[in-house]
Amino acid sequence: MTTALAPAPTRPDTAARPLRIGPITLAAPVVLAPMAGITNTAFRRLCREYGAGLYVSEMITTRALVERNATTMRLITHHESETPRSIQLYGVDPATTEAAVRLLVEEDRADHIDLNFGCPVPKVTRKGGGAALPWKLGLFREIVTRAARAAGEVPLTVKMRKGIDSDHLTYLDAGRIAEDAGVAAVALHARTAAEFYSGHADWSAIAALKDAVTSVPVLGNGDIWSADDAARMMAETGCDGVVVGRGCLGRPWLFGELARTLGGPAAVAPDAETVDATLGFVAAAFRRHAELLVEFFDDEARGCRDIRKHVAWYFKGYPVGGELRASLATVSSLAEIDALVATMDLDAPYPGAAAEGQRGRAGTPKRPALPDGWLQSRELGAEASTALADAELDHSGG
Ligand SMILES: Cc1cc2nc3c(=O)[nH]c(=O)nc-3n(C[C@H](O)[C@H](O)[C@H](O)COP(=O)(O)O)c2cc1C
Repeated sequence: MTTALAPAPTRPDTAARPLRIGPITLAAPVVLAPMAGITNTAFRRLCREYGAGLYVSEMITTRALVERNATTMRLITHHESETPRSIQLYGVDPATTEAAVRLLVEEDRADHIDLNFGCPVPKVTRKGGGAALPWKLGLFREIVTRAARAAGEVPLTVKMRKGIDSDHLTYLDAGRIAEDAGVAAVALHARTAAEFYSGHADWSAIAALKDAVTSVPVLGNGDIWSADDAARMMAETGCDGVVVGRGCLGRPWLFGELARTLGGPAAVAPDAETVDATLGFVAAAFRRHAELLVEFFDDEARGCRDIRKHVAWYFKGYPVGGELRASLATVSSLAEIDALVATMDLDAPYPGAAAEGQRGRAGTPKRPALPDGWLQSRELGAEASTALADAELDHSGG
């Protein structure tokens, strides 16, 4: 993180650049990456409290939405403070995806819809879903075209990876197809499915996509851990905006810094003027996150159970002992959180490098699991259609 202790340089080429996604203008070209299990209303509200941006929902499967699954219907609801309302869909079937988009639009449930084509999870790619899908050009085209048409005035975007592996790249074709289909922007996580979350994102691919897709914004994603990284990605690749995922885990205030660096002072929320990341500041954000989760789940024990997975991210690098961390990771009430926070040295300063860098998923490269014969043709054969029929399982994202 770059804190007020060391403000990120404002670059003339990236400063105060708004981002237009269809009719939506964002004061800062910043998007919260959809993250299953993380970017629920609670986390989105928290991030938004720091700065301007587009805060995307957790991934919603189109079939569950069309079937009006009760959990799904709860996941797509937004708090009144959330505008624009953004929902990410995951689908493999053109008709179901179209029906899901239509439901969102006709019932006025979203101001922006994103389609996820980046999931690398084996149980998804094995069926031809996620990052495997854009390999089948016709299927990809049909899904995006029908979804964009059903979206009408609501801007529809596409989020994807570079491809299946380095020998089977899909992003340039997919970007052009999506542009033709009428999307309002394309976002690239600059890794292949085979890379999973390992190594470094290849930002040169974002620059290549920017050259290929010329009529709508290109958003870059992968390995932004600080506002300075975001400015560097924009300067190096020419991308129109950044999508930030793991870098904001346990650091929702990163959105204030991103807004200040990429959008200028007006993009920063008034209450987030200064970021003083003492342990007290971090503990207050953690407490606020827990409180918002309790509100979201409408269940104190459930909300507190959910905050447990964020403990290591919030307190990374801070002088919080093992016993205290363990207690935080088992909290079941807000009062318990308050009691534990009261034992911390709240004046402990921002620890610098120890709080920086990678957090969240990492992992090692994996040979992608694919349906038999998937790579032999870029058109969909009968056997692949069968695999796709049950590709839309519950899974954890991109
Ligand atoms: C816990 C977790 C859940 C994710 N879930 C989704 C998802 O639901 N949809 C999606 O498109 N990407 C998902 N992703 C991928 C992120 O949106 C993003 O593309 C990826 O983390 C790379 O960006 P980063 O380096 O800024 O984290 C997920 C990532 C993580 C770490």
